[in-house]
Amino acid sequence: MSTSGIVYRPRRLRATPGMRRLVAETRLHPADLVLPLFVKEGLTEPVPLASMPGQVQHTEESLVDAVRAARDAGLGGVMLFGIPAVKDGSGSQADAPDGILQRALRASRAALDEGLAPGEATPVLMADTCLDEFTDHGHCGVLTSTGAVDNDATLIRYASMAVAQAKAGADVVSPSGMMDGQVAMIRDALDDAGFADTSILAYSAKYASAFYGPFREAVDSELTGDRKTYQMDPANGREGLREADLDLAEGADMVMVKPAGTYLDVLRAVADRSDVPVVAYQVSGEYAMIEAAGANGWIDRDRAVLESVTGIKRAGADVVLTYWALEIAGWVR
Ligand code: PBG
Repeated sequence: MSTSGIVYRPRRLRATPGMRRLVAETRLHPADLVLPLFVKEGLTEPVPLASMPGQVQHTEESLVDAVRAARDAGLGGVMLFGIPAVKDGSGSQADAPDGILQRALRASRAALDEGLAPGEATPVLMADTCLDEFTDHGHCGVLTSTGAVDNDATLIRYASMAVAQAKAGADVVSPSGMMDGQVAMIRDALDDAGFADTSILAYSAKYASAFYGPFREAVDSELTGDRKTYQMDPANGREGLREADLDLAEGADMVMVKPAGTYLDVLRAVADRSDVPVVAYQVSGEYAMIEAAGANGWIDRDRAVLESVTGIKRAGADVVLTYWALEIAGWVR
């Protein structure tokens, strides 16, 4: 023991920026970040989202510009959400070959691959595989005559949607509707259609969260009511592990926990038992809260952005979906 009585001085490793950089356990890298993007059919100008300052509903043209920016920034991927001009009960535009999401995927595929040198990486093209952006009732599935979400009838729609997305050039389809059996159903459909190489990112532990609020504006959601019969109860951690195990058994290539910030315990637990990459989605409400507090001068926005995403990685995420992906990539390059 030293004369001062202090056994060890951890502050030594915090003394300089260089020392802090050397010993940092968690680093943000553009390749670990995925940018979610919204594209809406029929727009002539991008539409700013009031509840997500800095984010927009893209036109087909501005979407491609954003995809190019993601490529230039070295992002790991982009996740596309489509908003059709017309919604209906079965979400028929979700798997229409010329539906907005399929058109956007084809245009993005071309932009991502244009002039690619041999061996050069380009962001992975991901698509949301869910009906809520396409249905007039706003639910993630089709409904029975009594208005309940029909699990097995919805699976048929998801399978068709996944194949349409793969045909349009998606590298990854991402079932986010929390229907039982969705991963196995989609895997079968993709394999049967000749898309054995298309990956599935399963939204495994997806909670019925208030933090999706701004997203509902982003996709012009028509939902009244809630998603509590299919999305998980925020009270349940163990059940999230069970959901992840089921998705792994069904052939998920990656598993996701969503939202991120209020489920870091679930994220850590999934990361500890998963032998596939673990993804976390920092959702619209997490984005909106930091933007709002930052705009009011209540917190240091930029530091809060970095701290929030660093915390998600530290908790076990290999990959983070965040609306700040481009901005963070610019900072950490
Ligand atoms: C479902 C889906 C949602 C989000 C991503 N995929 C909405 C929901 O489940 O209600 C939310 C993402 C966010 O809030 O940023 N297609």
